[in-house]
Amino acid sequence: MIKFISSSVGKKYLMGLSGLVWAGFIFVHMLGNMTILISPDLYNAYGHAIVSNKPLLFATEAALLGALFVHVICAVLLTKGNQEARKSRYAATPNGAKAPAFASQWMAVHGSIILIFIISHLLTFKYGNYYETTVNGVNMRDLARLIYENFQLPQVVGWYVISLILLGFHLTHGVRSIFQSFGLLHPAYQPVIQKLGVVYAVVVAGGFISQPIFVFFAKSLGS
Ligand code: HEM
Repeated sequence: MIKFISSSVGKKYLMGLSGLVWAGFIFVHMLGNMTILISPDLYNAYGHAIVSNKPLLFATEAALLGALFVHVICAVLLTKGNQEARKSRYAATPNGAKAPAFASQWMAVHGSIILIFIISHLLTFKYGNYYETTVNGVNMRDLARLIYENFQLPQVVGWYVISLILLGFHLTHGVRSIFQSFGLLHPAYQPVIQKLGVVYAVVVAGGFISQPIFVFFAKSLGS
């Protein structure tokens, strides 16, 4: 088991599994967030229902934290391994072939930006200003107000749009990698899997991007 995990195949497998946990979460998160396009009250009621279910919330947070940790550690170890492998390959062939890990180098670049995005995102929303509101007689956190407050600022909207586009690229390649790591990337299905990755990435990134854009142009609460 330990031998498998420390092998490069094992680390790719763990990256795939941990990536799947996040892929599932962000799809549900994006869908749930769409309620902000319908009404602030609906968004708050939805958020309140989620945070009121403590076992679900803790299980989700623990799974996300664990998966993020595994994903980042494996990414760092695999990137280091790739770099060392490339160095020794260049040493053998000085006029060397093109770097084989080109895609994963880019995965490391957008992955790092996405990590910064996630940290800043949690600081802004989860641990950001606490407002309260009442929806249908129930007192709850006014997250919609916080979202409207932040997405009035062009620099925040710009940062979100750029990060979410990068997330889209990360997901496109990530879906393909998951199939590859699990040994399911049969050449016959490769074009279909490639398309599946693009569709998933466009739906998730596009869905998320619609939220700051909508709020930015909606101007004020309730409009
Ligand atoms: C326009 C895009 C997004 C909006 C408006 C948004 C909004 C929010 C809000 C308001 C919260 C706080 C919920 C609460 O404390 O009850 C939250 C939590 C969170 N968001 Fe986002 N989010 C967006 C995109 C993303 C993306 C792209 C990711 C990941 C790549 C992400 C990951 C998270 C995580 C991990 C949490 C904490 C969940 C928890 O504590 O259980 N979000 N988001």
